[in-house]
Amino acid sequence: MKNLLFLSLMVHALVASVFSVKCYSCSSTNRTCEKVIEIECLGGQCFTASERFYNGVKTFELFLKGCACDELCGGQGRATGENIEYQFNGVCCTGDDCNIDEFRLPDNKIPNGLQCPTCYNNISTDECVSDMKVNCTGNQVLCYDYRASMQNPDGSVLQYSSKGCANKFVCDVNFDKHIGLIELYREHLNCTAPNPDPQ
Ligand SMILES: *[C@@H]1O[C@H](CO)[C@@H](O)[C@H](O)[C@H]1NC(C)=O
Ligand SMILES: *[C@@H]1O[C@H](CO)[C@@H](O)[C@H](O)[C@H]1NC(C)=O
Ligand SMILES: *[C@@H]1O[C@H](CO)[C@@H](O)[C@H](O)[C@H]1NC(C)=O
Ligand SMILES: *[C@@H]1O[C@H](CO)[C@@H](O)[C@H](O)[C@H]1NC(C)=O
Repeated sequence: MKNLLFLSLMVHALVASVFSVKCYSCSSTNRTCEKVIEIECLGGQCFTASERFYNGVKTFELFLKGCACDELCGGQGRATGENIEYQFNGVCCTGDDCNIDEFRLPDNKIPNGLQCPTCYNNISTDECVSDMKVNCTGNQVLCYDYRASMQNPDGSVLQYSSKGCANKFVCDVNFDKHIGLIELYREHLNCTAPNPDPQ
């Protein structure tokens, strides 16, 4: 029994030494990310993440370093609609103190020929409706329809209803893996291919 315990402790120590790394850790609303400390990450990967959200009135930014969140590794997200610009970038790396990357946000604004219906409402999660369209850019190949109550990084809460262009990553992570924004309640999310528009 004692030997078994010893063995299991040995295995734990071994696993910990193989899969844990030291990572820089900080969180800031600007790129300085001051007060960098080191933390132990059991997943074995470190993380550098950048997020920007503009809602037509305010820009919220959050930059952080720490332990990797697997789902966000290598993820570059962009969604664009009336009054909305969302950008996310997640970089993961392996090795002690490897997360020294600068903070970057994906910003390919070159139109790709696709268009999506777009509208915006910040007082209700009822579907917004409009005849307007927005030009999709970069790798935005999907149209989103998103309605949710969101807490902004400054603590304020808004009811959003928004339509526009999104890239696959934003839809794949299901719109709710933000680092600064918190979704409090979701009414609807749908990502669909743009309708071919004969014109
Ligand atoms: C950056 O943010 C920190 C808090 O996260 C703040 O103390 C500092 O003044 C900010 N620096 C600039 C240049 O805005
Ligand atoms: C809500 O959106 C309107 C424009 O549609 C804008 O004038 C107003 O400032 C926004 N409110 C907030 C809190 O963002
Ligand atoms: C969207 O793209 C079309 C061409 O595909 C262009 O005529 C139009 O000006 C663009 N609209 C905006 C708001 O950039
Ligand atoms: C998403 O939208 C498409 C096209 O409008 C529709 O066929 C599909 O049922 C919708 N899915 C959900 C889950 O609302």
